[in-house]
Amino acid sequence: MLEIDRIDTFYGESHILRGLSFQVAQGEVVCLLGRNGAGKTTTLLSIMGYVAPRSGSIRLRGRPIHARPAYEIARSGVGFVPQERGIFPSLSVRENLTVFARTFPGARWTLQRVYEVFPRLRERERNLGFQLSGGEQQMLSIARALMLNPDLLLLDEPSEGLAPMIVHEIIQVMRELKKEGLAILLVEQNLHTALAIADRHHVINKGEIMFTGTSAELEADESVKSRYLAV
Ligand SMILES: Nc1ncnc2c1ncn2[C@@H]1O[C@H](COP(=O)(O)OP(=O)(O)O)[C@@H](O)[C@H]1O
Ligand SMILES: [Mg+2]
Repeated sequence: MLEIDRIDTFYGESHILRGLSFQVAQGEVVCLLGRNGAGKTTTLLSIMGYVAPRSGSIRLRGRPIHARPAYEIARSGVGFVPQERGIFPSLSVRENLTVFARTFPGARWTLQRVYEVFPRLRERERNLGFQLSGGEQQMLSIARALMLNPDLLLLDEPSEGLAPMIVHEIIQVMRELKKEGLAILLVEQNLHTALAIADRHHVINKGEIMFTGTSAELEADESVKSRYLAV
């Protein structure tokens, strides 16, 4: 589904991602783990076309996307849930969901379906973005990305700052999405959330992949955990 091949990404003269490569297969949940400042968000921004890599390639279903504008990448089936959630504060829940929706005959995700998965959003349908709790905003951000009917979903630290019960709920939703065959790239700092959902993990530090492995391999690797993760 997604192939990232030796990308280098800069902010001005700061060299952030250094020859970064990894892949996400269809229906797979892959976690990108690393400490604050490791380059996780920059990786997602590079995929989405907000920060163009200076070299290397990014392919979606085999087609290069690294020179395409962000709206085109979204339209080609990549849903993005940004770290700051990006809810429109003065639009209602319903408007937030429908403003960028992408639908087509046979599309899985409709307003009704999203409300089935997130009943809380139906209850809050007429509330404005700024009236929602942190957990509700996170759900709305995920639901809005689903309304694009993506094949690949990118999530930037969805559990950050949320109560354990809400984190649990979000993990349940990700499991449902995985069952439906959606490919997910999850960015996390929290090892427990990562182990609860992902098939494979990549640990990033200073813009380079330092470890790749399964949940069992990561759990067993004390040196990777203590060097690159906050555990
Ligand atoms: N807009 C920016 N301009 C310059 N440097 C940035 C910018 N955004 C992030 N950085 C730097 O890039 C590095 C990686 O940041 P980021 O990708 O946000 O890390 P993470 O998401 O893993 O916490 C950090 O050193 C950060 O200070
Ligand atoms: Mg980040």
